[in-house]
Amino acid sequence: MASVLEIKDLHVSIEGKEILKGVNLTIKQGEVHAIMGPNGTGKSTLSSAIMGHPKYEVTQGEVLLDGENVLEMEVDERAQAGLFLAMQYPSEISGVTNADFLRSAINSRREEGQEINLMQFIKKMDKQMEFLEMDPDMATRYLNEGFSGGEKKRNEILQLMMLEPKFAILDEIDSGLDIDALKVVSKGINEMRGENFGCLIITHYQRLLNYISPDFVHVMMQGRVVKSGGEELAQRLEAEGYDWIKQELNIQDEAAE
Ligand SMILES: Nc1ncnc2c1ncn2[C@@H]1O[C@H](COP(=O)(O)OP(=O)(O)OP(=O)(O)O)[C@@H](O)[C@H]1O
Ligand SMILES: [Mg+2]
Repeated sequence: MASVLEIKDLHVSIEGKEILKGVNLTIKQGEVHAIMGPNGTGKSTLSSAIMGHPKYEVTQGEVLLDGENVLEMEVDERAQAGLFLAMQYPSEISGVTNADFLRSAINSRREEGQEINLMQFIKKMDKQMEFLEMDPDMATRYLNEGFSGGEKKRNEILQLMMLEPKFAILDEIDSGLDIDALKVVSKGINEMRGENFGCLIITHYQRLLNYISPDFVHVMMQGRVVKSGGEELAQRLEAEGYDWIKQELNIQDEAAE
């Protein structure tokens, strides 16, 4: 049966300030959802809160994975349960090679005694790196250290393809990519698409959605999903910006605090 990720009336605060003010979103495996929205509206906050970043305090609402309360799980348990986040700004980890990182990430999601065999792992990594047109040296370099912005994003997709999560949240996976890299990254995401994979793509630009045709497009403003639709919504945003939505829904600009 297809898994479901449900975000219900989610309120999240950072250092006492409420950023998410009741987000509702349901993603089923097999679906690709895109979220667009102005800077600072809480898109990255939503992804961090789902993954359990300690700075983000959930004050109300729930996140359920097949009915199980994700918010009660530790960060590693969320990953084991099948959630994956490609961060807007991937962190660098010195002293840990990309290959070692990936292998332990795969194994930490498996039961003891079910660890991936080294040869199997190398074969799979080689195959996916070739698919993503990555320099083989990337496997032995320290995780993200000195990687260019675009290389980091491509590496996030390598992680995605190696870990094969149930659900992925891809936060601005297209930022900083050159035109060819955008195609490669999209190819990776499309390769993952299927009945065992659900995806939430956070993006500012409709151009990514030319390559990855989303099933649903949502607009986030002031800490809420205010409008949902199909690809035509992304096209209209690209052409006209966000003002028309504010007018249509009578959303006032937030007063500066
Ligand atoms: N750790 C933090 N400490 C203080 N404020 C924060 C923190 N993280 C986020 N915020 C604030 O929360 C608000 C939402 O930020 P968030 O990063 O979720 O926005 P976003 O929608 O992802 O924006 P962008 O499109 O620019 O990436 C912003 O006003 C931001 O300054
Ligand atoms: Mg963001």
